[in-house]
Amino acid sequence: MSTLISGGRIITAADDYVGDIFIDDEHIALIGESLDVSADREIDAGGKYVLPGGVDVHTHMDTFFGGTTTADNHYEGTVSGAFGGTTTIVDFAAQYPGESFVEGLGNWHTKLETNKPVIDVGFHLIVTDLKNGGSLEDLAKLPDEGVTSYKLFMAYKGTDFHVDDETLFKTMQVAAENGSRVMVHAENGDVIDVLVKEALAQGNGAPKYHSLTRPPETEGEATNRAIQLAHIAGCPLYVVHVSCEDAIEPIELAREKGWDVVGETCTQYLMVDFSKIDQPGFEGAKYVYTPPPRDARHVEACWNAIRTDKLSVVSTDHAPFNFKGQKDMGGTDDFSKIPNGPPGIEERLKILHEFGVRAGRFDLNRLVQLFSTTPAKLFGLYPRKGTIAVGSDADLVIFDPEKKHTISVATHHSTCDYNLFEGTEVTGVPETVLVRGQLIVDNGELVAQPGAGKFVKRARVGEQLAPSVAV
Ligand code: URP
Ligand code: ZN
Ligand code: ZN
Repeated sequence: MSTLISGGRIITAADDYVGDIFIDDEHIALIGESLDVSADREIDAGGKYVLPGGVDVHTHMDTFFGGTTTADNHYEGTVSGAFGGTTTIVDFAAQYPGESFVEGLGNWHTKLETNKPVIDVGFHLIVTDLKNGGSLEDLAKLPDEGVTSYKLFMAYKGTDFHVDDETLFKTMQVAAENGSRVMVHAENGDVIDVLVKEALAQGNGAPKYHSLTRPPETEGEATNRAIQLAHIAGCPLYVVHVSCEDAIEPIELAREKGWDVVGETCTQYLMVDFSKIDQPGFEGAKYVYTPPPRDARHVEACWNAIRTDKLSVVSTDHAPFNFKGQKDMGGTDDFSKIPNGPPGIEERLKILHEFGVRAGRFDLNRLVQLFSTTPAKLFGLYPRKGTIAVGSDADLVIFDPEKKHTISVATHHSTCDYNLFEGTEVTGVPETVLVRGQLIVDNGELVAQPGAGKFVKRARVGEQLAPSVAV
């Protein structure tokens, strides 16, 4: 099957021009002005943007966490992602305590086989246990399986995911040796645990105390600690879901020194402030995710940081829990029993376009860097993913920059029963989405079969993922 996309405004991390793209089967074969070729299918992209498909390197599909399982499986979550212009996710496979890494990874491959994705999927591995399940030798072999990033949680004391500094540091040493990147959820779990117990003992159980018991300093301290430990180990570090100035500052400092440290923020930290979690009754539970919503000055700091490359990636941390039946499963007067996580995989491109580009904070090239190219480069997917180039996978988004849309649970494609950005009005929506040349979303309609997406083995840090055809 061949496809010609004609007359679109092609935007990459560096370029911006009008042209045609000829796709042969799964790959981009030709790019040029008024291409004289015939194709099985033609798509007129006149007046539209043609962008590389989004790469969301922070999702939690079908994941048991906080006593329940995230609402979207790998089919449902990737359908929602496709409608948002995301064509590849790197999802967090987990080694739960007592499991080997091979078992943990195998469980996530089984999930993919059961609930077949419509966009491509890679895996990071969450490391929880180096004593009773996982060995350092097995950890070191994961790049052979195409898994070249390890994730560790300095937060969530008392849960399966929390690790001590010894586990974190030993994993960093392995990563330094085998070309993997360490990802950290950086918050001081011990201190937060004390603050949570104090708040509950004082009868403070409303959702807003989720935020008040996790002050920005706990994120700043852990971020700096992770940076220093990674520097000793000599491994590349990626700090996930940065939410505040206190964490941006140590990342900025490390980058100024030339250390291999990269920070990510997520759409919610660009859009939601403390007032949302501080609502009467239980409504604030919709905004219980971690790190929590912060004061408005931190929201502006995150926008500034993605503009200036203090933070380099915008992901979603898509970890949806239904408001009815999940967020309220521990009752409504104990914030510590609310499962932590936000929905949002579908809204990333619309929000970056509306509040980044249209608001004049940055240009379309920067949007593409944050949404697609930089995460693809950092996580061993580039140049197969993350750009529009001859030989690259034909993962493309045709984006209508004029179309008006109201973000809402009524129109989103996640199974989650609420939308974090309900009522937000945007101009500009992804209209048609292709993954490796296959039409997934056609003019706002899902046309893909389950299984259109496939597992992607990623390259090691510093290596490129060669296009899968010779060019
Ligand atoms: O609240 C969150 N972010 N839940 C998902 C797990 C994590 O911490 O990334
Ligand atoms: Zn986290
Ligand atoms: Zn997460």
